[in-house]
Amino acid sequence: MTSPNSQPIGVFDSGVGGLSVLRALRAELPHERFVYLADSAHAPYGERGDAYVGARTHAITRHLLEQHGIKALVVACNTATAAAIHEVRSRYPALPLVGLEPAVKPALAVTQTGRVGVIGTRGTLTSAKFGKLLASLQGQAEFVVQPCDGLAHAIERSVDKPVPASPQGTETWELCERYIDAMGAFGTGAGAIDTLVLGCTHYIFAERDLRTLVGPEVRFIETGEPVARQTRRLLESAGLLAAAASGAPQAQLFTTGGLPQLQAAAQRWLNLPADCCQTVAIASDTTEHSAA
Ligand code: DGL
Repeated sequence: MTSPNSQPIGVFDSGVGGLSVLRALRAELPHERFVYLADSAHAPYGERGDAYVGARTHAITRHLLEQHGIKALVVACNTATAAAIHEVRSRYPALPLVGLEPAVKPALAVTQTGRVGVIGTRGTLTSAKFGKLLASLQGQAEFVVQPCDGLAHAIERSVDKPVPASPQGTETWELCERYIDAMGAFGTGAGAIDTLVLGCTHYIFAERDLRTLVGPEVRFIETGEPVARQTRRLLESAGLLAAAASGAPQAQLFTTGGLPQLQAAAQRWLNLPADCCQTVAIASDTTEHSAA
C-alpha cells in the first residue's frame, strides 16, 4: 500500500495566479509531488459572489481528494479562502489545509510611513474575513484598500501573449494605472503609501506594471513564501513530509480552461514543460453547498 507521505499536495486557484504559490512551494518542499488545478473556465472568482466560489471550491476539493488522493490542500486563492475555507475545514477536518489572506500583518512590520496599500479582488476585500482582519489591526497603520475589478482576468488573458518591450498600453497596464492612481501618493515621503500588499495571487505577475507605477522604493508584500513555510510546518506536525528518497519531484498541472494559457504560464513562470499540463472538466455541485 502507498504511504500517505508519498501522496501529492493539491494546490488550486481560479486560474494561473496560484502558480506564484506553487513556485514557492516547489522551492520550499523539493521532495514533494504537486497537483495544481487552475479553474480557468470559471475565472475570475473575484467578482462572482460567495455561493459560486464556494460551490467551485467544494467541487475542486472533492475532485483532488477522489482523483489524486491528495494528502494536503493549499487554497492558493485569497478569494476562495475568504468565501469557503471555513466550510472546507469543517467538511474535511483531518485534511491539512492552508489558505491565503492578504498579508497585512507582515506589512505592519515594514511600513515606515504607517500607510499601507492593499490590492485584491472585490470578493476578498469586501469579505467578512478580511473585515475582521483589518479591524483587529485598527490603529496600527492606515490601510488604503483598493479592489481591482478585472485585473486578475486581464493577467489571465495575457499569459500566452509575448511579453511587450514596455508595460504601457496593455489592458493589465491600464487597469493597474487606474487603481494605483485611485490610491493616492506612493513613496517614502510623509503620508505616502510605502508598502503595497498584493492580496491576489495573480498580481505578482503584473509586478513590472505595478513597480513602474509606484516607483522603486515601495515594498511589495505577497504570500507565496510564507504560505510555503506554513505548509511545511503543517506537514511536519502531521508527520506527512515526503521522504527525500521518494522519487523524482513532480508537478502535474490541470486546467478547466484553455491548455495553451496554462502551458505558457507554467513554462514562463515555473520553467515546466508543456507535457506537465492537461485539461479536466469538473462540474459544480451546488446542491451540497450552503452559502457562507
Ligand atoms: N487569484 C485569486 C485570488 O488570489 C482570484 C482571482 C480571480 O479569479 O478573481 O484572489
